Amino acid sequence: MCEWVEESDLDGNCLKTKVYNGKYFASIVPGNIKDHLERLENMEVREDDTFVLSYPKSGTHWVFTIASMLRTGESQYKGSPYFLDYNEVDFLDKLPSPRVFGSHLTFDELPRQVREGKGKVLMITRNPKDVAVSYHIFMTKLNAPDYRGSWEGFLKFYTSGKMLYGSWFDAFFAWEQTKVSYKGQNILYLAYEDMKRDLLSNVTKIAEFLDESRNKSFLEEVTDRCTFQTMVKTVMKEINPSDQNYIHQMSDEKKLPIYRKGEVGDWKNYFTVAQNEYFDKIYEEQMKNATCTFRFE
Ligand code: A3P
Repeated sequence: MCEWVEESDLDGNCLKTKVYNGKYFASIVPGNIKDHLERLENMEVREDDTFVLSYPKSGTHWVFTIASMLRTGESQYKGSPYFLDYNEVDFLDKLPSPRVFGSHLTFDELPRQVREGKGKVLMITRNPKDVAVSYHIFMTKLNAPDYRGSWEGFLKFYTSGKMLYGSWFDAFFAWEQTKVSYKGQNILYLAYEDMKRDLLSNVTKIAEFLDESRNKSFLEEVTDRCTFQTMVKTVMKEINPSDQNYIHQMSDEKKLPIYRKGEVGDWKNYFTVAQNEYFDKIYEEQMKNATCTFRFE
């Protein structure tokens, strides 16, 4: 059953969104969510499809941009991905190849054919403190936000699983479950912090994984075009007008509100000492059996 819920934070600011099977989805997921997930389950997948999977604000657009350049062999910007979550399957079916989708769904919610090994999945994760800051600021910039409350209120929703797509921990455990149990070869696991540290080797790794044999100079060109500084400077000039319309419907910002700081450790400018202690306690408790660690600076 899908229901609309309204949750209030301590200041009375509301999170108003759709809940299905106990999970909080963005309100723009079509219809009652159940039917959309069923249609996605049966979606026809192509061998050269790429699925960029992430919890929000983990670098989805970054990986999408790299993958699109590698898939097409062209280094111009493509704007934002079409999300599986927000577009009807009939529409997605008609998009030309090579298709590079974005999604904040978990691997078990992807089309069945992907889970049977067809297409390629790029899964990107990012440390939860930087994600929290990026997520809160992003939501405050949207025209029709599901939540526009304070940072403090956001943090409580984010840690309790009431934010869109659940808590970061919910997404992490789904990710880890896939890593441990899925034996297919069509997933590449990426970390935002590793990409920041060495972009060229990650671009090279993604190209190999996608079976796109691109020469060294093209890989270097993609790397140059996909540094944060270059993307921020040029992305709005080069993306196509129809994509800009979509952005302007989402937000009054002149620039795509995706590209903000692009740093590791910016959370230190936002978390108070008390908020950091609160978060660390939850992190320690939740992650005690986790098989991997995150870099926070
Ligand atoms: P910040 O808000 O911390 O700057 P998503 O695409 O999943 O919504 O993620 C958005 C985050 O990725 C934003 O983080 C954005 O700045 C960052 N990002 C986008 N492109 C990037 C790049 N080329 N290098 C580093 N970070 C990038």
